[in-house]
Amino acid sequence: MFNSCASESNMQSIDDRLNSLLSKMTLEEKIGQMNQYSSFWDVTGPAPKEGSAAVQFEQLKNGLVGSMLNVHGVENVRKLQQIAVEETRLGIPLIFGFDVIHGFKTISPIPLAEAASWDLEAIELSAKNAALEASAAGINWTFAPMVDISRDARWGRVMEGAGEDPYLGSKIAFARVKGFQGDDLSAPTTIAACAKHFAGYGFPEAGKEYNSVDIGTQTLHNMVMPPFKATIEAGVRTFMNSFSQLNGVPATGSQYLQRTLLKDQWNFDGFVVSDWGSIEEMVEHGYAKDAKQAAQIAVEAGSDMDMQSLAYVDHLTDLVKSGVVQEALIDDAVRRILRVKFELGLFDDPYKYCNIEREKATIGHEKFQEATLEMAKKSIVLLKNKNQLLPLKKKGLNIALIGDLADDKTSPLGNWILAAEKNSAVSVLEGMKTYEGNNLEFSVGVKLNTGALEFAKELNINTTDKSDFPAAIKLAKKSDVVVMVLGEHGFHSGEGRSRTQLGLPGLQQELLEQVFKVNQNIILVLNNGRPLVLDWADQYIPAIVEAWQLGSQSGNAIAQVLYGDYNPSGKLPMSFPKSLGQVPIYYNYKSTGRPTLPSTDEVFWSHYQDEQNAPLYTFGYGLSYTTFAYSNLKINSQTDTTIDVSVEVTNTGNVQGKEVVQLYIKDHFARPTQPIKSLKGFELIDLNPNQTKTVHFTLTETQLGFYDNDGNFTVQPGDFSIYVGGDSTTKLNTKFKL
Ligand code: GLC
Repeated sequence: MFNSCASESNMQSIDDRLNSLLSKMTLEEKIGQMNQYSSFWDVTGPAPKEGSAAVQFEQLKNGLVGSMLNVHGVENVRKLQQIAVEETRLGIPLIFGFDVIHGFKTISPIPLAEAASWDLEAIELSAKNAALEASAAGINWTFAPMVDISRDARWGRVMEGAGEDPYLGSKIAFARVKGFQGDDLSAPTTIAACAKHFAGYGFPEAGKEYNSVDIGTQTLHNMVMPPFKATIEAGVRTFMNSFSQLNGVPATGSQYLQRTLLKDQWNFDGFVVSDWGSIEEMVEHGYAKDAKQAAQIAVEAGSDMDMQSLAYVDHLTDLVKSGVVQEALIDDAVRRILRVKFELGLFDDPYKYCNIEREKATIGHEKFQEATLEMAKKSIVLLKNKNQLLPLKKKGLNIALIGDLADDKTSPLGNWILAAEKNSAVSVLEGMKTYEGNNLEFSVGVKLNTGALEFAKELNINTTDKSDFPAAIKLAKKSDVVVMVLGEHGFHSGEGRSRTQLGLPGLQQELLEQVFKVNQNIILVLNNGRPLVLDWADQYIPAIVEAWQLGSQSGNAIAQVLYGDYNPSGKLPMSFPKSLGQVPIYYNYKSTGRPTLPSTDEVFWSHYQDEQNAPLYTFGYGLSYTTFAYSNLKINSQTDTTIDVSVEVTNTGNVQGKEVVQLYIKDHFARPTQPIKSLKGFELIDLNPNQTKTVHFTLTETQLGFYDNDGNFTVQPGDFSIYVGGDSTTKLNTKFKL
């Protein structure tokens, strides 16, 4: 039934088995393992007879393809796997990759929203459920988690990450890898994870997609690298390199990143897949003179698998036969790829992910909807609630619900929803309608977009058609309260979606101001994939709820928060600028030599003439329907290696609520300098009214250390402050010496 290598004794270690297989492989078959194609024909249809698809089909039948992406569904995967396993000489199974970024068919909140929950268990469960659905559809490898730290909301892919902080980003990266891979990668319900995009992709100059990245060693080692290292600690089996060039070297061609750091210093024994076409793109970067040289540079740099650039399958054979590239480099890459396939159990049973009964029983299961609803509620951040306009009373109100996004059932799914069904989300209108005690009327207010809304196409934002304004204003005028759902469409952020303006797109801001003129009781519910500039809204709108793009259960989550059936507990994982000109803006900045206003009104200090230094909403910020008080922060004990810190937190309001207790440190004097604050711990607690909990943190010496400009980790003695509170501006602190 299976080829010889699959029937070999399973008693051998994986490395014995893969070395045995490797010894049988021709050079072409080895290079084939390094070649990945995106789905190049509808496999349920006839085999391609002409063009590039026909060439790729022949390569597939000749064992020159090691992986496919963008193929899902048991029937489709089985058909391709049968070709690889039963029609090629050695029958080496394919590994099937897919962008399972925040859910597969059931869509969870975008990753930036999940990060706002600070709930690591919920985040791990979200990834686990995504793996359950994706694996049931034949997928055995996801191109996630994206762990790129970013401070620049102009860059559209901040929606995919965990925000600006390396500590929170590392904890979330670890949780996501654990969720995807579980404890047994050979189980048919777990999938290999992929840490991406290695490295520095989140720092594109001017926030422009794919733009050059020029960052120093402090930012690289202390901000960018920690989440990637956390994925290694979690046992991640693959990495994906970045499109961008880091300090003049495209990541795909960087020996420093992929060999020196990842494979040598970090002892990574999985494999690195290039991002789509990034190997050949080194020609466009001006780093390789042609695709052949790009192939040589990439394989020497440790890019093990070529996603869809064809550089490897077209040129590596010649490069090896002509002696330019050592076959040992090919063998190393192939060993890594085969190792992961063995670990997934694909050699023992290439069809283990092709169980049609499991597919039917798993995809779209109610348990996933329930979990994604919980995740969505936990991801919502209450930004403002003046006069306690929220939570809404459940009866006797005339509520106007306004906004194109309010009855949109696709946008709330966010971006990277390749396997999801359009119109499958619960809209805000549908969620609000489940509360029948009030009189709810909807008005679109203004169309957000015109024309097609597609993953790969530019959006057409409506900047002229105000024909729906009058009806919305009329409805608002006669209502007790107005819920306005405004923000970005799900395809307004994500890959290829950089923006130079961060306000409400299109005519939404004008609509908001027009409605405000007739009714000031406005609750602004934001749907967005990135921090926005909300200065006007913060000044005039009494209640503002950050509801991101929350996935399949978006409308129910938002309704339950607006009606108080869930007390919002989210905290921002990324700073919201007060002005566009502040971007990039982040909480863990460096002091500078002139951080404060001189005694006179001189201008010689680090500031803007036309804007404050602080963001509108800071990292770690989020309100609740209750309030919390912090007291009695103290250091209970200190040894050479650990410091025990405790603080008392009291729910001083009259409803139950969750609080993310955050611990930051400040290293007052260090070489090189360190940020004015760095997150080093957090704990999510749940308190009833008047309840007090003592929260303990154990700070380790390692947590007080950092990488110096030589890339060496160092812990320097000196004066430190510990800050604890409900966001990064907390003043409550205590001090210690190391
Ligand atoms: C894309 C993205 C990457 C994704 C890959 C496959 O261009 O940069 O994150 O996993 O291609 O879709």
